[in-house]
Amino acid sequence: MLDLSYKYMNLQLKNPVIAASSGQTKTLDNLQKLYDNGVGAVVLKSFFEESLPKSPKMNPEENYHPEIYEYFGYEHDKYFGLKDYCELVSKAKAKFDIPIIASINCTSADWWFNFAEQLEASGADAIELNVFNYASSKNFASPNIEKIYLDIVKGVKNSVKIPVSIKLGQNFSSIPHFVSGLEQNGINGIVLFNRFTDLDIDIETFKFKTSFEFSEKHEFFVPLRWIAILARQVKCGLCASTGVKGYEEVIKFLLAGASAVQLASVIYQKSPTVIGEILNNIEEWMKRHNIDKLESIKGKLSFSPDAEGVANYYMRSQFMEKIAEVE
Ligand SMILES: Cc1cc2nc3c(=O)[nH]c(=O)nc-3n(C[C@H](O)[C@H](O)[C@H](O)COP(=O)(O)O)c2cc1C
Repeated sequence: MLDLSYKYMNLQLKNPVIAASSGQTKTLDNLQKLYDNGVGAVVLKSFFEESLPKSPKMNPEENYHPEIYEYFGYEHDKYFGLKDYCELVSKAKAKFDIPIIASINCTSADWWFNFAEQLEASGADAIELNVFNYASSKNFASPNIEKIYLDIVKGVKNSVKIPVSIKLGQNFSSIPHFVSGLEQNGINGIVLFNRFTDLDIDIETFKFKTSFEFSEKHEFFVPLRWIAILARQVKCGLCASTGVKGYEEVIKFLLAGASAVQLASVIYQKSPTVIGEILNNIEEWMKRHNIDKLESIKGKLSFSPDAEGVANYYMRSQFMEKIAEVE
């Protein structure tokens, strides 16, 4: 009997394939399809602070005493704005016997903590923090940006007891140092990496526009490298995201040291049945290689304890070799 179970943070997964946060994890109907195809866990579509409805009676511009809005409007939204999302969490929890991970994305610091408390109370098994903060000013140094993330993690960890992960973009100058700081502030899992919409230019209207395309397979190389580098340097769970199209990428991420692997674009491209296909192919691969327990391969190809030396040597020589081949 093949055992595909994996542990991610303190969550016991029946397999390491997680449906990433997207429209595919937004409704109970969609979750049912993912569940029927054997998904190991789901990260619900993020709740964005900006989506909070503002009570019209509390519009600060129309209010003679704007400070009333400041107090009541803020308090009202804070306590009731998340109600539908919390209901989704509770219903998903009651319906599916897999971990339900809630995801939040806030713009102002104090909302993170309150939302996290409400999600824990609704029964979420864990919270994924979807933090998005671009350094767009020359006056904003890297440590300032990193401090925003560190403070959010620290505050959320002080507010809840369930595991908390953070989903990062790729743009940090020293990912291992930053991740170590997140760990010191109590983070339980790191998702590498998020994938954002792009900024584009319309050359007919001379205006900026937003561009979005589903990921492509080659994009998995970047998180693969970072998971291999980080795996033996951190204790928290590493979860891969971006570019997973089939069972090969899942296995590569596990060998590099991931505790779980997230999928989003491929579910849109192929439908939720792709999860069942991936799981079947993983089982076939395990049989071919006489592996009974999938977790036994975790981190087999992560960088060795002398991670810094080996990683530097490997990356530099590999780069020189490959480029020479092409040239
Ligand atoms: C249509 C769509 C909506 C998404 N919405 C969210 C979201 O609300 N929160 C989030 O953290 N990531 C969101 N993502 C990003 C995915 O969770 C994932 O990290 C990213 O797409 C990379 O994985 P992939 O290559 O499997 O698509 C979304 C992705 C897609 C395709």
